[in-house]
Amino acid sequence: MSSEASRDGLEAPGEKDVSDRSSDRDGASSNGAVLSARALTRSFSSGAGRLDILKGIDIDVRRGDIVAIQGASGAGKSTLLHILGTLDRPTSGQVFIGETNAFELPDDGLAEFRNRTVGFVFQAHHLLPEFSALENVMMPLLVGRCPWDAARERAEGLLGEVGLAKRLGHKPVELSGGEQQRVAVARALVGRPQVVLADEPSGNLDRGNGQALLDLMWDMSRRYRQAFVLVTHDEDIGRRSDRIYRLEDGLLNALAAPESG
Ligand SMILES: Nc1ncnc2c1ncn2[C@@H]1O[C@H](COP(=O)(O)OP(=O)(O)OP(=O)(O)O)[C@@H](O)[C@H]1O
Ligand SMILES: [Mg+2]
Repeated sequence: MSSEASRDGLEAPGEKDVSDRSSDRDGASSNGAVLSARALTRSFSSGAGRLDILKGIDIDVRRGDIVAIQGASGAGKSTLLHILGTLDRPTSGQVFIGETNAFELPDDGLAEFRNRTVGFVFQAHHLLPEFSALENVMMPLLVGRCPWDAARERAEGLLGEVGLAKRLGHKPVELSGGEQQRVAVARALVGRPQVVLADEPSGNLDRGNGQALLDLMWDMSRRYRQAFVLVTHDEDIGRRSDRIYRLEDGLLNALAAPESG
């Protein structure tokens, strides 16, 4: 991991913190989790009254874990992922990333902390339309003050790994839906965040590209001990995950562990 990091002149976010800690803690909180939620609830008020979407979610994800979350449309999967990624605040409850109680940070501190620790693949890709694929992937590194050449090198490498070496200069409108999705995955992975949250990452992809994307995520998880939480209906992801949960009636239920896991 460190030889890789020094070869491209970059240090993965959090890597230094990790090496500075005692090995038994390994960048995780005292219960060993890199991402924890406690008693999360989220309610929305709408014209028809109050909607209680999340009703008390607890989850612990350790470094290198790959966790799949399934559930019906409208069950609250994206809502949960946004809160785990600290993009939305819960109605009540807490999210810990490493030892940090995320929602206790001030807003600007939270944004900086999120950029350093969490990679997000959104259900709608949210690529920046005026920037090329390459620039979109470089962006989290540049925001984190990584030198331009090093950011470019790493972003090009990842875009190559997702099969887009020949589309570096294309803007999002000049890419297919599946290509945009692959750019979004590269963008989420480029800073090697401790936690990667992905909402249907292989949803728009054919089987070959879907498999390649999963291979990349599993490889990253092994190489950098990144934790992945994947919202998915994809049975391949479920089979290959360490744990599967089903979100139902506002609660997260653990399903039987996959045989291969
Ligand atoms: N800002 C909001 N205001 C009111 N209701 C909302 C809001 N955001 C989400 N909801 C409602 O919360 C429920 C859960 O939405 P969410 O997007 O989390 O579902 P999901 O499980 O991701 O579904 P899908 O599989 O279709 O993506 C939906 O019924 C949605 O209408
Ligand atoms: Mg959703």
